[in-house]
Amino acid sequence: MSEIKEQVKTTITFPSADPGMEFIEEVASFLFTHLDQYGDKKEDIIKCLNYALSTEDGKGGFVVTARSSTGSIVGAVVVNDTGMSGYIPENILVYIAVDRSQRGFGVGKKLMKATMDNAKGAIALHVEPDNPARHLYAKVGFTNKYLEMRYHPDA
Ligand SMILES: CC(C)(COP(=O)(O)OP(=O)(O)OC[C@H]1O[C@@H](n2cnc3c(N)ncnc32)[C@H](O)[C@@H]1OP(=O)(O)O)[C@@H](O)C(=O)NCCC(=O)NCCS
Repeated sequence: MSEIKEQVKTTITFPSADPGMEFIEEVASFLFTHLDQYGDKKEDIIKCLNYALSTEDGKGGFVVTARSSTGSIVGAVVVNDTGMSGYIPENILVYIAVDRSQRGFGVGKKLMKATMDNAKGAIALHVEPDNPARHLYAKVGFTNKYLEMRYHPDA
């Protein structure tokens, strides 16, 4: 099967009183399918989307979708506001994925540029050291001064 380079258009969705369950379900299904081994359970992706699109105090963020000329999603990003500033970056880029058949054509870069243009303040993200996505982040100006460490009480 040959690969096709789609013309894509990016759209930013900001929090609203009614973000629409259909949209959340569409983006969650896309991310669940295309995040590969770097994904999460679909219910967690839905939680992240609900947070990003919530107008409640202390929540918020935005979603970037890239769609083909037929309207189907070929790439998506979900950003959560941290509610903090200065000592912790204002935004966390939680998910980014491009449809497997459309990778290597610049969609990821387009999504990152739209994300950087719309985020107010600094953006943090975490990426496994063996994930080639880190090349994309470095190309658009992300640096890695820190090593992220976590403690899981139940592990
Ligand atoms: C990471 C991902 C979003 C990149 O999307 P993409 O559309 O293929 O990326 P682009 O075509 O826009 O590439 C942008 C730049 O990053 C580089 N890059 C992207 N993927 C790369 C790879 N696998 N190896 C090396 N460089 C890569 C490209 O060379 C390109 O640089 P250039 O513009 O100088 O040529 C996509 O591979 C993906 O969905 N991966 C699975 C999900 C995932 O890992 N998400 C991140 C979790 S942290």
